[in-house]
Amino acid sequence: MDKTVEISGLSKAYTQGHEQILVLEQLDFHISRGEFVSIVGPSGSGKSTLLNIVGLLDDVYSGEIHMFGRRLEDMDEAQKAVLRLKSIGFVFQFDSLLPEFTVLENIEMPARVLKHPGTVNGLELLRRFGLEEIAHKFPMDISGGEKQRAAMLRALRNNPALLIADEPTGNLDRHNSSVILDDLRRASGLGTAVLMVTHNEEAARRADRVLRMTSGKLEELTK
Ligand SMILES: Nc1ncnc2c1ncn2[C@@H]1O[C@H](COP(=O)(O)OP(=O)(O)OP(=O)(O)O)[C@@H](O)[C@H]1O
Ligand SMILES: [Mg+2]
Repeated sequence: MDKTVEISGLSKAYTQGHEQILVLEQLDFHISRGEFVSIVGPSGSGKSTLLNIVGLLDDVYSGEIHMFGRRLEDMDEAQKAVLRLKSIGFVFQFDSLLPEFTVLENIEMPARVLKHPGTVNGLELLRRFGLEEIAHKFPMDISGGEKQRAAMLRALRNNPALLIADEPTGNLDRHNSSVILDDLRRASGLGTAVLMVTHNEEAARRADRVLRMTSGKLEELTK
């Protein structure tokens, strides 16, 4: 089917001293092409742990994960690195634009690494999201909200199948949060599956589906 990510029986434990701390416990999850899913839940409940695994930043877990139709556990490091670069975009609470480059140069960075630029270039992406006027500015000369939006466009530059956003509005006021959420919605409309973790219930409700993480498990909330 068009499942972008399908997870079954995912468990993850951290070792602390002699103790094993179970963070994710037999968790099931799926997200489809172009779907916008949010995850809420208390601090320490395992949300970022899940995103790290889905983002291929952590492969120490048990369970089975299919991503873009392929079984992750069958892939080697090099294959996963390509997948991470080509098919997954990341946005975090604090933008990570490189200060010595313009917004456009920052957005073009992932395409340069890939050496196979996608069809949509950075300038076109800025136009689509109504941000062309900041293209040639440096990060220090734009607002916090604009920085976060630029970081998001950089994450979208290679037209990823999956966008992972860990508290993308955590550092923004209500207006800028709303703008970012509009952007995420637009990205999902263009076919990218968007997986967002947030502490903000209002932001969470802007997604197609809201899940709550408690005790290492996910439950679906009715909106
Ligand atoms: N590298 C690590 N080593 C040991 N324990 C860890 C590590 N990373 C996270 N943990 C623990 O795993 C649990 C889940 O952490 P996680 O970062 O996934 O929570 P979270 O839901 O993202 O919380 P927050 O909302 O505060 O970001 C916490 O108890 C945390 O202390
Ligand atoms: Mg977290």
